Amino acid sequence: MNKRPIIIDTDPGIDDAVALGIALYSEDLDVRLITTVNGNVNLEKVTYNMLRLMKFFNKQTPVAKGAGTPLIVEPVDASDIHGETGMDGYEFEEPDNSLLLDEHAVTAMRREIIESKEPVTLVPIGPLTNIALLLRTYPEVTKNIEEIVLMGGSTSRGNSSVMAEFNIYADPEAAKIVFSSGIPLVMAGLDVGWKALVYPEDSEILRDMNKTGNMIYHLFKKYRGGSFNHGLKMYDSCAIAYLLKPDLFETAHTFVDVELTGELTKGTTVVDLKGKMNKEPNVNVCIDIDPVAFKKWFIESIRKCN
Ligand code: RIB
Ligand code: CA
Repeated sequence: MNKRPIIIDTDPGIDDAVALGIALYSEDLDVRLITTVNGNVNLEKVTYNMLRLMKFFNKQTPVAKGAGTPLIVEPVDASDIHGETGMDGYEFEEPDNSLLLDEHAVTAMRREIIESKEPVTLVPIGPLTNIALLLRTYPEVTKNIEEIVLMGGSTSRGNSSVMAEFNIYADPEAAKIVFSSGIPLVMAGLDVGWKALVYPEDSEILRDMNKTGNMIYHLFKKYRGGSFNHGLKMYDSCAIAYLLKPDLFETAHTFVDVELTGELTKGTTVVDLKGKMNKEPNVNVCIDIDPVAFKKWFIESIRKCN
């Protein structure tokens, strides 16, 4: 079977690092390009982390640096979750900077998409700034994008504010552009991320499994996305899991929009599961996940890494 061509846009980020390892070592994905975006920590740090991960994973996928600030709102970060470096807990080697393209992420994405013989899937697992800039700057790319499978949003409550999930909250205007683009969208939000848990006994298995498992174990000791003892949330791996094993998920095809003006609710993904707004569905929303099957898939996916 041909590998599915994808571009990952990311803000590593401990859960990003795990998702990237799974994607890069999957026999079913062709990761054409990885782009970085200001998110969990600033653009310099996430790009440095991405290059260190490429060295660690011993892969040659090109990396392009993207937006350093959201479109409109002031930057926020998640260093309280991922540590000051964005990937606290493991001493990575210094990166090989030759993988870093001179091109901006948006022009690199345009080139990869336009030149691809088959439609490309975009997999944003950070704030959507680069994706929004791409769609507004180069609308011609739409014809060769298969779908956008993103980690972000929530049908219920948030993790950054009462109602907003971090990737949407960090750049709500960008999210609004992406959700209203008309491109087929899959939203893997908190509803599934909160159930995609890795427990201490799983982390012990990872620690002794291979080099990647051992690295993940050490990152997990610092990761504050949940609790090491009661379950760590594999948010970004849910987007990769949807690509590789969609039957893990229950989905609802419905209308989703992004709140921009609410003083208390800016960045909320308003998921109209009951059709109250009489709008055409624009998103396949992941509303549930089989946590046992996810965990099995997750462990077996890490086993395929170096
Ligand atoms: O809300 C979870 C998301 O925010 C994940 O992508 C995590 O890496 C952070 O960016
Ligand atoms: Ca992320």
